[in-house]
Amino acid sequence: MDAPSPSSPPAAPRIATGPRGLPLIGVLRDVRKDVLGWLMRTATEHGPVARYRFGPARSYLVTHPEGLKHVLQDHVKNYTKDHFSYSLFRRVVGDGLITSQGETWLKQRRLAQPAFHRARISAMAEQMVRATGDLAEHWSEAQRSGEPRHVVRDMMALTLRIVGEALLGTDVRAEVQAVSAAFNVLSEQTVERFRSMRIIPPVLPTAYDRAFRRANHTLREVVARVIAERRQRLEDRGDLLSMFMLARDEETGEQMDDAHLENEVLTMMLAGHETTATALSWVWVLLEQNPGPEQALHAELASVLGGRLPTADDVPRLVYTRRVLDEALRLYPPVYVLGRKVLEDDTVCGYQVLGGSSVDISPYVTQRLPEFWPDPERFDPDRFTPDKIAARPKYAYFPFLGGPRQCIGNNFALMEGTLILATLAQRYRPRMVAGYTPTPEPLVTLRPTGELPAMISPR
Ligand code: HEM
Repeated sequence: MDAPSPSSPPAAPRIATGPRGLPLIGVLRDVRKDVLGWLMRTATEHGPVARYRFGPARSYLVTHPEGLKHVLQDHVKNYTKDHFSYSLFRRVVGDGLITSQGETWLKQRRLAQPAFHRARISAMAEQMVRATGDLAEHWSEAQRSGEPRHVVRDMMALTLRIVGEALLGTDVRAEVQAVSAAFNVLSEQTVERFRSMRIIPPVLPTAYDRAFRRANHTLREVVARVIAERRQRLEDRGDLLSMFMLARDEETGEQMDDAHLENEVLTMMLAGHETTATALSWVWVLLEQNPGPEQALHAELASVLGGRLPTADDVPRLVYTRRVLDEALRLYPPVYVLGRKVLEDDTVCGYQVLGGSSVDISPYVTQRLPEFWPDPERFDPDRFTPDKIAARPKYAYFPFLGGPRQCIGNNFALMEGTLILATLAQRYRPRMVAGYTPTPEPLVTLRPTGELPAMISPR
């Protein structure tokens, strides 16, 4: 079927077409079976805006960059986070920067923003490389012993440690295992609850609900410890946690209470580690599958670093390393789908979008549209040369979203990813164990299945 063109919208909004689905449940069953396949088919068959029912909710999938700019930037006030998915996140992180809205969000965003300024992030480079160096020791040991590593697990532990130390000034190494396990339970259950539209909170005495409550409790305990430690020695260390703790409301002089602080710390831990870790995990898969780009990466690392560890000053010169990361984020954007609630009737790309419905957007789909990405499945870091970037519409590529709710940690993540990759790829080539095939596992983020078991080979 020919996709309708988004350009020159007719005077009266058109009614979008879409997959029919079943009575009562709509497309729920197909989404549960294979969410990525369903998203791709829906966009290919129905064009820039598709219409369907997700359970009882009337929904639209908006995939064209023009429509995304409208939803995320130009008419952002009409597209809120009063979406079912965020009510589930709120059960985990409460009202933190990702889930809050309106004045509360704006105040917190302004408060947090200085912690993510370029100069501050650069100051964290040394710590990022040091933490990566510790993982390198484990990889050297694995190389000697011939034991496989689980690369996803390694990347998760590393990025969690980095967020803990760099942003929160806390050593979370002792708790990494417990925290990761708890996040996994919450992540899996959040997705399952979303796909089955299970709205009741996890209060039942079932094993399933108990596992949710236990995981939540574990995280809250760790975060409470981080805050209590800091309360004992309340000093300005210039990190994000100091900023949150010392900030006073301009009018009332009030400071954030512990409950609110817990939500913000948990939000940063959650948003700041799993995303970067999944992106890096895919980088290793893609490098193994694409010897040309892998060699180009090694050549750049040899010429820029010549065997020494990278610093913040090297980052602007690690141009190809960054492109590898950008291209991995195109093919496997960690946040592959998200939703917004529509306040009032609107027109998007010439199509009617009714108030009260949901809009779904998917970097995974848009970043594979052949119109903007020729031969979309091919891994080609050279898609990110400055001229090629300038030739594409902004929202053809948006792994960090865009507009006011754009990821606050994007520069942090890109610097961290570049440094981790440069440090490890200089010395090692992880190689997937025989018989393992990486496929995307669509949970809250998009990770490779089975935690990516790999043997560590030397460069
Ligand atoms: C490759 C890594 C990352 C990716 C792909 C990513 C992606 C995203 C996306 C798509 C959003 C929008 C979510 C929404 O509207 O529901 C977001 C928001 C956010 N991210 Fe990231 N993120 C990454 C790394 C980080 C890091 C390292 C941090 C913190 C250290 C972070 C903190 C946040 C926060 C706090 C928000 C909410 C911002 C707001 O609404 O004001 N992220 N991220």
